[in-house]
Amino acid sequence: MGKFKILIADNNEGIVASYTDALVAAGYEVVDAASPEEALTILRKQMIHLAIVDVRLREDDDQNDKSGLELCEAMEPLVPRVILTGYVEDWTIIRDALQPSGRPKRKQLADGFFFKGAKEKDARNNFYREIRRILQQEYEMIPAKRFAILTSGGDAPGMNAAIWSAVRTALANNVEILGVQDGYRGLINNNMRKLTWNSVSDIMIESGTILGSARCDEFHDKETRKQAVDNILQKHISGLLVIGGDGSMKGAQALAHDVAEKGTALQTIAIPGTIDNDLVGSDFSLGAASAANAMIDQIRQIVAPAKALNMVFVIEVMGALSGFLAVESGIGVGADAVIIPEELIVLLPGEHHDWREAIDLPATKSRVDQRLEEISENLKKAFEAGKKFGFIIQAEGLDHCTATLIDKTAERLERLDAEYTRRHIDERFTDWFGSKVHPVRVQKLGYAVRGVLPSRFDIWLGAASGKRAVELLLAGSTSMMVGWSETRGFIETHFDEVVSKSGRAPNEMWKDRSNWSAMSDLQKSLSLPLPFSEAI
Ligand code: F6P
Repeated sequence: MGKFKILIADNNEGIVASYTDALVAAGYEVVDAASPEEALTILRKQMIHLAIVDVRLREDDDQNDKSGLELCEAMEPLVPRVILTGYVEDWTIIRDALQPSGRPKRKQLADGFFFKGAKEKDARNNFYREIRRILQQEYEMIPAKRFAILTSGGDAPGMNAAIWSAVRTALANNVEILGVQDGYRGLINNNMRKLTWNSVSDIMIESGTILGSARCDEFHDKETRKQAVDNILQKHISGLLVIGGDGSMKGAQALAHDVAEKGTALQTIAIPGTIDNDLVGSDFSLGAASAANAMIDQIRQIVAPAKALNMVFVIEVMGALSGFLAVESGIGVGADAVIIPEELIVLLPGEHHDWREAIDLPATKSRVDQRLEEISENLKKAFEAGKKFGFIIQAEGLDHCTATLIDKTAERLERLDAEYTRRHIDERFTDWFGSKVHPVRVQKLGYAVRGVLPSRFDIWLGAASGKRAVELLLAGSTSMMVGWSETRGFIETHFDEVVSKSGRAPNEMWKDRSNWSAMSDLQKSLSLPLPFSEAI
């Protein structure tokens, strides 16, 4: 069991000695400083739990000396402060420090007050009682370390379960944990708050993330990161838990590197959190299963209009560059076809610095056209045999992979999005069945599926990964992503491997994800129509 560490900032040696004796006897650890500068140096080097600050740190009898208050202003607000004073006239200054009023609202500079002039034993006892009160109010345990947790990139159902579990695991191990608001942006802006046992009580059943998130491009800039480094050092954060995608892991790597340059170590651990499920090193990332369930639910609601009017729907689903959600929802609703970048992108031969620049557009387009032709033919056969409606699920990834390159080319190439697919099928169906007999429509499923409540699986995955991640930090690990495999259980993969392998072209990535390609094959095998003529 550790001890609370108290800093006494006072230039009166006699007073320091008498407080020290009493505080040490009461079971506290004590350090002292005679000047604001000395106090700030100690606060930078050590994790202090409470500071006792004299209003006058320079001249005891100078009524204008408020250097103690200036020290409180400069101190990290995470350290509760008790102010001492020896003069009755100081009361208004103290009142303002305790309960600042007026506009703009000023910072509260003190959490407690002790009248230094009081000589009676009772007054002294009150002072120590006040210290105990503040410590009890401020802390749920005696923190030996401080970690921080953030969510980054697109929010995902299950992130809150991971936060809940990480906070409770940290607190149970005497580690204080700060929630960083809005991803890496909160580290830059010093926007963090202490997370307590109760503050996370019921968050695991909510969707999204209670910490907010951001796609913080400015974090790529080392100069901007300096601010985050200062905040981490000032707050004595020794471990950072990041929930997000591979971009979030790159950010954590860069940050740990910058902190190391200052001679301090920052451990970093990540939990995959993105509905896209596009990270090598985990079968599932948080949110992917819930989003797939939500897509299935939403697509089911399109069945009635599709059936009533004999329609074909091209349903475009989120997933960034990954076809995972398309395949999962395709199987989930028995779709007639699934269109994913993994099976359609063609790369130019040779090594590529950036695979996006190396997409062979004409070859990709011709492969897409061939697939659309095949899908149209299959659907035609099925409709001729009495099918009432059609569902084609298209991953947004096909368009995401190719759009930038298409926009750059001089030829006026069409985007390979869901609208492209719709036009293709509509043309064929108009030729075969006549105009408006089978209307072909596009339906996009987006943020509403990302925002659903987490499924049982994602709550479990979040809870188990959050605990595991904090245990890894406690054991001294760093730069590791906590993934989960259906066959191997929890597995850790180094950030470098996750980032380099997950950044590959979708068709390359698919090779390491045999479970998804098997799922895609299953989907295809179940949606191909029987060869009717031969069957008769
Ligand atoms: O990464 C999650 C995700 O929902 C992707 O599937 C999608 O492409 C993207 O985020 C949309 O978010 P934004 O509008 O921020 O790009």
